[in-house]
Amino acid sequence: ISFVQIPTTVMAMVDSSVGGKTGVNHRLGKNMIGAFHQPKCVFVDTETLSSLPDRELQSGISEIIKYGLIRDAPFFEWQEEHMDQLLARDSETLRYAVTRSCQNKAAVVKLDEKEAGLRATLNLGHTFGHAIENGSGYGTYLHGEAVAIGTAMAATMSYKLGWIEESLVQRIYKILERANLPTELPPSSPMNRETFLQLMSVDKKVADGKLRLILLQGELGNCVFTGDFDESAMIETIDEFVAECAGPSTV
Ligand code: GLY
Repeated sequence: ISFVQIPTTVMAMVDSSVGGKTGVNHRLGKNMIGAFHQPKCVFVDTETLSSLPDRELQSGISEIIKYGLIRDAPFFEWQEEHMDQLLARDSETLRYAVTRSCQNKAAVVKLDEKEAGLRATLNLGHTFGHAIENGSGYGTYLHGEAVAIGTAMAATMSYKLGWIEESLVQRIYKILERANLPTELPPSSPMNRETFLQLMSVDKKVADGKLRLILLQGELGNCVFTGDFDESAMIETIDEFVAECAGPSTV
């Protein structure tokens, strides 16, 4: 069916409406059933954001931050300069952030529409994030909030692997916190190591039984999509993030 997308949230404007992923959610997981079918056009009017709840705005900013981290260092630096204006919904700032995010997304999708590899990099923080959304009970976290914690986890793990400098991890935490996004799980979270590993094992990016993640490597703006990493860095990262939570680890 031909369709036009008219997104009215930041999340939809900068991510889900662009790129032709169509899907339905299932009780076993989000985004697991779907197809690629491009809209005839995406019509974005940032004026519609004037009535968006703050929490939704912040959730969408999580995906804007992602573009800077995976492929557009100058955009990340611009966000460091303009986060206050973005949160204040300054119209020029919003328009620029949405436009540049869409340009980044369109460039990636143009190169890899059906997600042979490159497109997966748009999922930085999402494997951890999807596990958090599902394991916490859908509705507890907005997507971008879970992705923000997932991004903090991906950054922490990348640092543990020795792939990025500590100063980059600090910048990532700082920008997420300035956007009022969570970077840790609360003590009341039901997440534990077992839940993470079980939920991450059904991720779409698992191939031949091997989990692949988007991790940061090198300077700001560079990432890799790989299953070739020391698993103990992942386990240590999960353990650090669940340390304050109530749920016991049994694995
Ligand atoms: N939201 C990630 C993608 O469209 O590939």
